[in-house]
Amino acid sequence: MKKIFVTGSEGFLGSHLVEKLIRKGYSVKALVLYNSFNKWGLLERLPKKILNEIEIVTGDIRDNDLMDRYIKNTSMIFHLAALIGIPYSFIAPKSYLETNTYGTLNILNAAKKYNIKVIHTSTSEVYGSPIKIPIKEDHRLFPQSPYAASKTAADQIAMAFYNSFNLPITIIRPFNTFGPRQSLRAVIPTIITQTLDKSIGLIKLGNVNTTRDFCFVDDTINGFLKTINNNKIIGETINLGTGKEFKIKNIAKLIGKITKIEKKIITDSKRIRNKNREVIRLCSSNKKAQKLLNWKPKYLGLSGFKHAVKLTVDWYKANNLKSKNKLYNI
Ligand SMILES: NC(=O)c1ccc[n+]([C@@H]2O[C@H](COP(=O)([O-])OP(=O)(O)OC[C@H]3O[C@@H](n4cnc5c(N)ncnc54)[C@H](O)[C@@H]3O)[C@@H](O)[C@H]2O)c1
Repeated sequence: MKKIFVTGSEGFLGSHLVEKLIRKGYSVKALVLYNSFNKWGLLERLPKKILNEIEIVTGDIRDNDLMDRYIKNTSMIFHLAALIGIPYSFIAPKSYLETNTYGTLNILNAAKKYNIKVIHTSTSEVYGSPIKIPIKEDHRLFPQSPYAASKTAADQIAMAFYNSFNLPITIIRPFNTFGPRQSLRAVIPTIITQTLDKSIGLIKLGNVNTTRDFCFVDDTINGFLKTINNNKIIGETINLGTGKEFKIKNIAKLIGKITKIEKKIITDSKRIRNKNREVIRLCSSNKKAQKLLNWKPKYLGLSGFKHAVKLTVDWYKANNLKSKNKLYNI
């Protein structure tokens, strides 16, 4: 059986996707960013039985020759590799373009050479602060960070490969995803770990009045899986979001209730982005995903969200991860 190639396999979404693919009986070649520590990132957290089933290859999506060799003889590509931290993109924009945009171009070129279907991973950040809610896929694109710009450019080049070379591609556009194994930089893990950390009395956050549409990782990954053997989605861009938005402030309160540790929440001026950089609201329309992928999140509405947050809290508790509180000076 030809293998499915997954980039960004050692990351948050990638590790869940690879795990699910293996559990469902697919054969996977997983790209891990080469590093001198010989570390496989979050793949190392998978059960040994699953890990042994994966063909792990190391490399960098910026290396076009290597991507060509890895992609040859694969059956399809899930392209998730990216630099994803928004704050760091303000200070290192070039690396974001090189990885997220030019790295994607390398994947597309190899896919074109061997005519392989690509599921390209976008992000809701490409919409910026919306002019209409819920956000449909044809909403204007308005990048407010170099991260969002690099992903917008990647989406556009992916779509250009569909339009000009007939390459079978689909753009999957997840809204904020959360769950076990997510980096502590992301907002839900930072709230959970600051809440659980007995050595700190306050929770420091940025703008707590912004809203996001948070999708539990199992649901997001389920959406990715529904792209396999689905020909209705070629050339399409599809949002994966729940259609419900929550204020960061309310999530912090909810986590206080779930953990029974209610700390004062304060705004840390270092975490506040200026008005032009801050995406105020994100809330997805998921009608297209329902129609083309037959996808509906299981963790839906307030009760679904509470359940998913509880599962996430339990995971961080069990793994005893400490908040880092590392900020970049921009
Ligand atoms: N997590 C979310 O809420 C979310 C929301 C929307 C979109 N996305 C998108 O989903 C994808 C995965 O995000 P994630 O949350 O799992 O992030 P992550 O940082 O956990 O995973 C990204 C992976 O890409 C790898 N990578 C970075 N540069 C690379 C390079 N040059 N070559 C090869 N690999 C490289 C990293 O090592 C990392 O493991 C990204 O494309 C991101 O833009 C994520």
